[in-house]
Amino acid sequence: MRIMDKAVLKAEANKALENAYSPYSNFKVGAAILTEAGHLYTGCNVENVSYGLSICAERTAITRAIATEGPGMKLREVFVANRDEKGQSIPCSPCGACRQFIAEFATPTTQVHYAGDTGDVTKSVSDLLPDGFTL
Ligand code: THU
Repeated sequence: MRIMDKAVLKAEANKALENAYSPYSNFKVGAAILTEAGHLYTGCNVENVSYGLSICAERTAITRAIATEGPGMKLREVFVANRDEKGQSIPCSPCGACRQFIAEFATPTTQVHYAGDTGDVTKSVSDLLPDGFTL
């Protein structure tokens, strides 16, 4: 992916997090994904008063992509952005459930970007989820 495209994905993830429904954690997460078909989808976290029902931004974006493109959808790039209650981005990698969900639709070249300790980090899915569950 070209540098420019990554910047666009980051901007879209940051825009998406503004729609987060997160009254319980006050933590906004946005995800922007680029599919192999070349389409962009975004998602945000959606919480629930029954906390365990909350859905992460990565999974809302991926479900939108599948609902639009169908079961053959594959991920080329994923960008995850966040804002805490002070409006600051903090180092934050995708949760374990989202890693497994991303892996389901990943290819060996899928890249995942997120805020790390010293700037944005890019990882492959096998680096993010070594030895993940498969049937
Ligand atoms: N969250 C995400 O949206 N993605 C992740 O990968 C980790 C956590 C959300 C879930 C919850 O709404 C909030 O962040 C705090 O955990």
